[in-house]
Amino acid sequence: MSHVPVLLNEVLAALAPKAGETYADCTAGLGGHACAVAKRMGHGTIVLNDVDPANLERAAGAVRGAWKTDQGPEGPGTHGLEAHATVVVRGNFAELPHVLRERGICANMILADLGFASNQIEDASRGFSFQRDGPLDMRLDPTLPMHAGHLVNSAPEAELVRILTEYGEESGARRIARKLVDVRSMKPIATTSELAGAVHAALGFSGGPIDPATRTFQAIRIAVNDELGSLEGLLGLVEQACGELAAGRATWLAKGARVAIISFHSLEDRLVKQAFGRIGKQYAKQGAKEVTKHPVTASEAELGWNPRARSAKLRCVRVCG
Ligand SMILES: C[S@@+](CC[C@H](N)C(=O)[O-])C[C@H]1O[C@@H](n2cnc3c(N)ncnc32)[C@H](O)[C@@H]1O
Repeated sequence: MSHVPVLLNEVLAALAPKAGETYADCTAGLGGHACAVAKRMGHGTIVLNDVDPANLERAAGAVRGAWKTDQGPEGPGTHGLEAHATVVVRGNFAELPHVLRERGICANMILADLGFASNQIEDASRGFSFQRDGPLDMRLDPTLPMHAGHLVNSAPEAELVRILTEYGEESGARRIARKLVDVRSMKPIATTSELAGAVHAALGFSGGPIDPATRTFQAIRIAVNDELGSLEGLLGLVEQACGELAAGRATWLAKGARVAIISFHSLEDRLVKQAFGRIGKQYAKQGAKEVTKHPVTASEAELGWNPRARSAKLRCVRVCG
């Protein structure tokens, strides 16, 4: 399956890119959203950020290609090279606002399309999927010191229960954690199929439409990558920037910047909903506004060809100014 940007038209409608603006893509991935924004802007600045260096490189290549094929008012390339800036930043998006501030970049649009890209889940060596046997890794950032194998084989049983309950909303968390501790006491759990097998054994699963290992894999992935912590970090800095704008100070977000986030499960969506709700209320007098009052979900047409869009929810807020 190739990567198709989720909710693309909806993202473009929410961000409403204008020529000459600066777009910061927190999760560049394969560059799908970024290329579409680049084309819509015609000229401007694109900041690409990702924790995965391989994806970041692919996104940067794709965006540079999109700029090259972009046509200015007098034909191809007439916007001039200096008008097509691509800035590449490898790292966690919770750090991106600091990088933008240090470099004096002020963003008009921010997008975070959370989670993993199709090429990451399809690569068995990354260990994200129980449908492909591979090493138990699950790191989006390959430089992280702890991978899923470390976590599953060393976390105390109570911590495993917490992770499975909080991040996987798994009602059988206790049974699974007990089984993992039993299995690892004989031999470390080293592969995705060993982990899935332990979950199946713990829950007595022998087939059915939804594999219960889905919830365990989600939970372990969220824990390994501290996905909720990163999101909270980014949202906190967006709220802080709103405070700065309301006080008339310049920051890494431009006045009237649009911040859009696509989430894939309720834990993420709740954080986004609460933060954007607070911004919309607290800074209403200074012009802040929730662009999406309710989360935007995929159209029937997109659901037909993009299975990943099933659980996607887009929210967007316009900051003060
Ligand atoms: C769903 S994909 C993004 C796809 C992208 N919007 C596109 O159109 O091609 C998610 C990407 O975000 C990256 N990612 C996930 N969490 C991140 C974080 N906290 N900081 C930076 N990048 C992250 C992943 O490595 C992955 O490449």
